[in-house]
Amino acid sequence: MTQKIYNFSAGPAILPPPVLEKAQDELLSLNGIGMSVMEISHRSKHFEPILASAEQGIRDLLSVPENYRILFLQGGATLQFSMVPINFLRKDETADYVITGAWGKKALKEAKRCGNTNVIFSTAEHGYNSVPTQGELRFTKDAKYVHYTSNETIEGVEFKYDLDGGGIPVVCDASSNILSKPIDIREHALIYAGAQKNIGPSGVTLVIIRDDLVAKVPENQHSMLDYRLLAENDSMLNTPNTWGIYIISLVCEWLREQGGLSVMEKKNEEKAAILYDAIDASDGYYSGHARRPARSLMNVTFRLPSEELEKQFCAEATALGLDGLKGHRSVGGVRASIYNAFPKAGVERLVEFMQYFAQRIG
Ligand SMILES: Cc1ncc(COP(=O)(O)O)c(C=O)c1O
Repeated sequence: MTQKIYNFSAGPAILPPPVLEKAQDELLSLNGIGMSVMEISHRSKHFEPILASAEQGIRDLLSVPENYRILFLQGGATLQFSMVPINFLRKDETADYVITGAWGKKALKEAKRCGNTNVIFSTAEHGYNSVPTQGELRFTKDAKYVHYTSNETIEGVEFKYDLDGGGIPVVCDASSNILSKPIDIREHALIYAGAQKNIGPSGVTLVIIRDDLVAKVPENQHSMLDYRLLAENDSMLNTPNTWGIYIISLVCEWLREQGGLSVMEKKNEEKAAILYDAIDASDGYYSGHARRPARSLMNVTFRLPSEELEKQFCAEATALGLDGLKGHRSVGGVRASIYNAFPKAGVERLVEFMQYFAQRIG
């Protein structure tokens, strides 16, 4: 590598360099066994401790209580959009959905195939630039669950609280902010997250599910869609993504060495503040998409005065080693994804470039 690249990709995203280095060291021979982790059986004595360590790592970092199962599945967060209603929503039943961005909308679309859905709050009208307060939410009586997206990756809006379902099971898509801060698992019945932002590589989906929900899975479910069967088989109903789970175990180790999630939260707040301050100090040259109380610590989204300038901004940034800043194709603009592993120096470098660009072009 001739130049340091700061990787602002929304996902798959940057991984901690010590994790990649350790994986590189062990690539050909895991713990000196003469085989790669990718070449050994998932049921072997060499892999068992890796799965256990990934699971324990997640349990410790998020303080997951004993009455929750931790699963490493496949099919991405997108399959969870379907698995949740397939397991917990019958034809004449209702599930509540809180829609604060594009991913929540996709989850809703799948749930509609199974039963009734009630969008109890949507910010679509305002271009998904905010999240509701807890007090603004009115749940449907007897709703089977309420689904929300704790961080909308495309729009860059994030809940700053764990949603309280008032007795209704809360299901959360936490794909893009899980492990970025402590959360209260007990507020949730099910949390899911694609791994490829803050947990590890793509191809693994983390599911944290409460025992009483597992018990509600209907009989005669298709095996690979059956949370109970997947839990009973410890994520190994079929061959799991062994490489992905191995990297997750290393990421958990790295997070522990960093001091855990409270420390990560402080670091993430600090990094995001540098960027939002630069946006706010630009006299409107850069305009943030999210309203202040909902500003995401993970995905900072902003616009320039024109699409032309946004194109030029991203092209020049890329040439300077600031990669992956182009906003999602559905909304445009600029998006800086600054997950756990993203260094503060990279944020500072981006801010320098933003100031330079605005002065020169603006
Ligand atoms: C919040 C959120 N939900 C769901 C998804 C879809 O994840 P996957 O590609 O793992 O299916 C993403 C992907 O970026 C996401 O950011």
